[in-house]
Amino acid sequence: MPHDAAATRPLAARRPARPLSGEARVPGDKSISHRALMIGTLAVGETRIEGLLEGEDVLRTAAAMRALGAEAENLGGGRWRVAGRGVGGLVEPTDILDMGNSGTAARLLAGILSTHPLVAFMTGDASLRRRPMQRVITPLSQMGAQFVSRAGGRLPLAITGAAEPVAADYTLPVASAQVKSAILLAGLNAPGITRVVEPQPTRDHSELMLRHFGATVTVNALAGGGREILLAGQPELAGRDVKVPGDPSSAAFPAVAALIVPGSRVLLPNVGLNPLRAGLYATLAEMGAPITIQNRREEAGEPVGDLLVESGPLRAVDVPPERAPTMIDEYPVLAVAAACASGTSRMRGLGELKVKESDRLTATARNLAACGARVEIEGEDLIVHGTGRPPAGGARVETLMDHRLAMSALVLGLASEQAVAVDDTAFIDTSFPGFAALMQALGARFDPA
Ligand code: S3P
Repeated sequence: MPHDAAATRPLAARRPARPLSGEARVPGDKSISHRALMIGTLAVGETRIEGLLEGEDVLRTAAAMRALGAEAENLGGGRWRVAGRGVGGLVEPTDILDMGNSGTAARLLAGILSTHPLVAFMTGDASLRRRPMQRVITPLSQMGAQFVSRAGGRLPLAITGAAEPVAADYTLPVASAQVKSAILLAGLNAPGITRVVEPQPTRDHSELMLRHFGATVTVNALAGGGREILLAGQPELAGRDVKVPGDPSSAAFPAVAALIVPGSRVLLPNVGLNPLRAGLYATLAEMGAPITIQNRREEAGEPVGDLLVESGPLRAVDVPPERAPTMIDEYPVLAVAAACASGTSRMRGLGELKVKESDRLTATARNLAACGARVEIEGEDLIVHGTGRPPAGGARVETLMDHRLAMSALVLGLASEQAVAVDDTAFIDTSFPGFAALMQALGARFDPA
């Protein structure tokens, strides 16, 4: 695992001689992949998964599920078989669970562990050890689990799961699908109804998949736009087939690249378009982006489509704060599109970006500025002054163990006059293994830097 300087992989992106063209299948959805392995572990019998993301983050989850007694077998070509233990049937892991770079893996797993009567230890890489875990420690403690953490609720963490768990009734203080999912997964092994209220709707893959495996999940819309999610505890989950769609957050990178490299035309088949994930595509449409969604369909309860992306002039956009949960991971690459657009874009309410794999709000602004864009941060808003032409480039940017910062900078380098180099592309493997090869097959120019 690339945790040290010796394993860094610098890369530079340059304007290609020809436009980007062709068809590219992005890897499976990261959020759905984690959940398929975890919920498969909590089901009785066999779960067969197609299209699982085999990025490092998800492989950490697979390893953790094995440590809890499940079988998780890679059958090749993105097909996996999970033999579950059933709700309440996990075994105590004999060693520390290392969740690598993955906040989703760490927080959802904390939920699962907290209502099983076992003791577990969890850590992660330097990026994950800086991220806040108190947001799950607080509700999971109310359900009866006990935690010992580093100062500020940071990993490593010791978790003593509750022997007699209590169902939760919890209102999320931040819009976070990870916190919501941690509570729902914990609620599976608590008697009674676990209730989570979210002031703003966040991705609902956990709710959809829990239902798919046989749990009773009720979702009620609340006045003011929020939602109430009710889960009936101690269900008998049964193994199921899961088909994982392509990750819209990964498709964002070739999509924005095709928009900003003149003359490009790229087809991205089989991209997940869950409305709670598709905010970027709505925003790009408002910018005038020529993106067509073809062949809309539903697969395993998730909306899916093929994206046809052509280059075109982009205009500035004002992204309201309530859209943030539906595109939270896409702001770094949206900021690249905004830097190439004409006019001043404002992306509002981005406080949560500060606690991602890096402080993405600061780093996105800094990286774009290093490439010659005019960028400001005002409170929790990111403001990008586009000139209608790509920024000059010519910088080497720091990617801070953050896959999405690395991919965003490389996308910018495909359009800027001078190359953009990134100090490390190793972390791209956490979410998008094969990114460089996929982009090169479309015509991108990447060279060692
Ligand atoms: C995720 C939720 C989001 C997102 C992350 C994946 C999930 O995090 O940024 O990449 O799978 O639930 P938050 O819940 O912290 O917003």
